Amino acid sequence: MCGLHTILLLICISHLFAINGEAVTPRETLEIIIGGGAASPWPRPEYQDCPPPPPPPPPCLPTPSTQPSPTLTHPPSPKPPHGPSPAGITKTWEGNNICGDYKGFICDIVPDVNQKTISGVNFNNRNLNGPNLTLTEFLSGLKDLAFFHANSNNFIGSIPEDIGTLRYLYELDLSNNKFSGNFPYQVLQAKKLVFLDLRFNTFFGVVPPQVFLLGLDLLFINNNNFKQTLPGNLGSTTALYLSLANNKFVGGIPRSIGQASNTLLEVLFLNNQLTGCLPYEIGLLRKSTVLDVGFNQLTGLIPSSLQCLEKMELLNLAHNKFYRIVPESVCSLPNLVNFTVSYNYISQVGPKCRKLITSGVLDVKMNCISYLPNQRSKADCDRFFSNLQPSCTDKKFLTYIPCSKGYSGKQLEASNVHWATPAPLVRSYGALSPH
Ligand SMILES: *[C@@H]1O[C@H](CO)[C@@H](O)[C@H](O)[C@H]1NC(C)=O
Ligand SMILES: *[C@@H]1O[C@H](CO)[C@@H](O)[C@H](O)[C@H]1NC(C)=O
Repeated sequence: MCGLHTILLLICISHLFAINGEAVTPRETLEIIIGGGAASPWPRPEYQDCPPPPPPPPPCLPTPSTQPSPTLTHPPSPKPPHGPSPAGITKTWEGNNICGDYKGFICDIVPDVNQKTISGVNFNNRNLNGPNLTLTEFLSGLKDLAFFHANSNNFIGSIPEDIGTLRYLYELDLSNNKFSGNFPYQVLQAKKLVFLDLRFNTFFGVVPPQVFLLGLDLLFINNNNFKQTLPGNLGSTTALYLSLANNKFVGGIPRSIGQASNTLLEVLFLNNQLTGCLPYEIGLLRKSTVLDVGFNQLTGLIPSSLQCLEKMELLNLAHNKFYRIVPESVCSLPNLVNFTVSYNYISQVGPKCRKLITSGVLDVKMNCISYLPNQRSKADCDRFFSNLQPSCTDKKFLTYIPCSKGYSGKQLEASNVHWATPAPLVRSYGALSPH
């Protein structure tokens, strides 16, 4: 299913989903285009498949609506937006044969009414613009829309109020447009959503906690201007990929993050204004392969619980205020490919960590390790340590190890592997470029 051409980044997710904490059911394979450059209509939603199931699994077909869906003979109001449309798709928006002729619109049969209608919109990378290019005119007529992908256009305005009434909508990609204002709370009504990509807009204010209660697989809200303490229920998210990078979030990383241990694979807190210590609950993320908290103001010791991140490949703690020692147990993690603690105040590394430095896995430049090159000046380090306030006085934060045993037994094997391990395919980092 993943063999696609011209797509910048295609993610095939196939994973197990825990239901009721016990039973495990294969979850539908999803194809996700992050800002895809696909020129052809893709992906085709297949209504025959189960809609992506929030637990417990829903029936395969939605219950028929009382009102049959209209077969659209016109797209919503396909008056092309004014202004240049470099990709030229609006030139094709003429005549009545929308499903056959109109580029950017994808049709499919709606099962309960057995009629062909517009099921998806793919305007990715079309650079559509115009003075009044709003979503309303596109969405309001499209009652059976399953996906709306509009990466890299010039949409403005607000999200239509009735977006939650789109009974099939499961993917909404509004990334890299000109949306502004508060978080589009309207999307919280779209209960079928599994993919919500709002990155690279200028939304500001707060992210409502309810967004972490949607049954999402992917939530990208990076590169906006959200400013708030991260909601305490962040760990309720079912997202596999979570990017909060490049906003203005403040406060600590919520301890609830450990609740996402059954699902969370990659999480980016990169470049916010987060403070406090890393909660030991991060160590519960036993499936995670990417954790990036770089460029914040986090402090304290690196918690020993991180040794439980059995799958971790890319661990970035750079540009914070972590100090003293990198736990040897963390350097023994079996899957580390890139462990960056540069630009902190680490003063000591043991033999296992030194091995990782030698093999190029661990980057400790610009710390306070007097016997290594490329460190901060002594004056800089002295200043930091003499002003150091005791932080994270809860000892559990530092010493509690939530997994039954660490992975130190694998260190020899692991350190051999590190030389040859290729860079991981990090999916959520794709979200950090606008397209
Ligand atoms: C854009 O919308 C505004 C406000 O609704 C309206 O006054 C203006 O005439 C519209 N411009 C165009 C080009 O349609
Ligand atoms: C390791 O990760 C850091 C932070 O994410 C990144 O800046 C750096 O380029 C990576 N190093 C390698 C060798 O991939």
